Amino acid sequence: MSNGQKKQYIVQPGGCLKGEFRVPGDKSISHRSIMLGSLAEGVTEITGFLEGEDALATLKAFRAMGVKIDGPENGKVTIHGVGMHGLQVPVHDLDVGNSGTSIRLLSGLLSGQKFNSILTGDSSLSKRPMARVVDPLAKMGAVIGSNEGKPPLHVQGGNQLYGISYQLPMASAQVKSCLLLAGMYAKAKTTIVEPSPTRDHTERMLAGMGYPVEVNGDTVAIEGGGKLTAINIDVPGDISSATFFLIGACIAEGSDITLKHVGINPTRIGVVNILTMMGADITLDNEAVTAGEPVADIHVRYAPLKGITIPEEQVALAIDEFPAIFIAAACAEGKTVLTGAEELRVKESDRIQAMADGLKILGIDASTTPDGMIINGGVIGSGEVDSLGDHRIAMAFAIAGLQAGGTITIKDCDNVATSFPNFVELATKAGLELEERDV
Ligand code: S3P
Repeated sequence: MSNGQKKQYIVQPGGCLKGEFRVPGDKSISHRSIMLGSLAEGVTEITGFLEGEDALATLKAFRAMGVKIDGPENGKVTIHGVGMHGLQVPVHDLDVGNSGTSIRLLSGLLSGQKFNSILTGDSSLSKRPMARVVDPLAKMGAVIGSNEGKPPLHVQGGNQLYGISYQLPMASAQVKSCLLLAGMYAKAKTTIVEPSPTRDHTERMLAGMGYPVEVNGDTVAIEGGGKLTAINIDVPGDISSATFFLIGACIAEGSDITLKHVGINPTRIGVVNILTMMGADITLDNEAVTAGEPVADIHVRYAPLKGITIPEEQVALAIDEFPAIFIAAACAEGKTVLTGAEELRVKESDRIQAMADGLKILGIDASTTPDGMIINGGVIGSGEVDSLGDHRIAMAFAIAGLQAGGTITIKDCDNVATSFPNFVELATKAGLELEERDV
């Protein structure tokens, strides 16, 4: 921040969550709506767009490449698509802030353009691994310079890309999507095999805009040379943002909450599956499909949770939800064991270490393993924890206040604005005693 101040959250103990809410739009779908809408022929109308810093970084990047985009205003964005070959050389470096999705997906898309471009980000993004996209893109014929596998990325334009067959070394929708976007500009077919299913919003949106994508079990394939046709996109509420309320309601006696119009894509629903296994009282109402994505109202009531061994096949389906799931585990009776989640170590922070450190400060028995965590449920105390500038760590410790014995202070909370700009307002309305301070 320009004034050198950073936001802290101060959470008072107790309370419960009540009411009906709509959380902001899905971050992953918002990014993709800007990218594919910009490349489409015609005008794409988006509603429910997430006006958070990450999705806005993507929007600004496309504006810098000459795309006329109106809004956002109350979640409404209008994109005047320029077609597959209509992007222009960016007027400046493309600074995508904290957003891993922007930099990784854009690296693929920009590799297929005629012009050079530079992708940069904030201090957290500048520490995150990019070899996972740079290496397979190089196999396709792309030329990308990096800082020893980290941003900034210097993407050279004008290279002919060729389709490859690629087995993803890790379950990553960002890498899969990056290669699909590059594949639209490649000669021949690009085939990607996933080690386990990851979010499929790119595939769904491509298909919705008339670009053929073959999906067959763990394999997805795309041919270059197609085109996208503009559509209307209604972005559902983000299940990753809904999670903080879901888990808050699960752990606080007396809670009864409904989250309206939330995306329940089967590749994102791990948190509901895991909480249900732990004994949560969750029901889905008003199920529907909007712009190719399943949605529902999620109704949660307090129910005592028990610790479980989290099945590894749920990990990728709940990957962004673990900071909050660790709070559920801390409030559950017995032991919760997570394995197979080493990807958590390379998110906006090392989420295994950051959560274990904070939980220990709050008096919970949490021990880390290279690929997960073991948590013995207990009584949450009070203290000062550090979010390390990671939005999801900050929001996870905020809801822990519902079961805390005293005040919890959370440091470095500015980045909550990347995914959930009105978190404090909604959480307070729902019943959390949460105050934000500049320090
Ligand atoms: C995302 C994919 C996931 C997720 C991230 C958003 C996406 O990352 O953690 O918040 O929009 O494709 P990985 O692909 O690295 O698992």
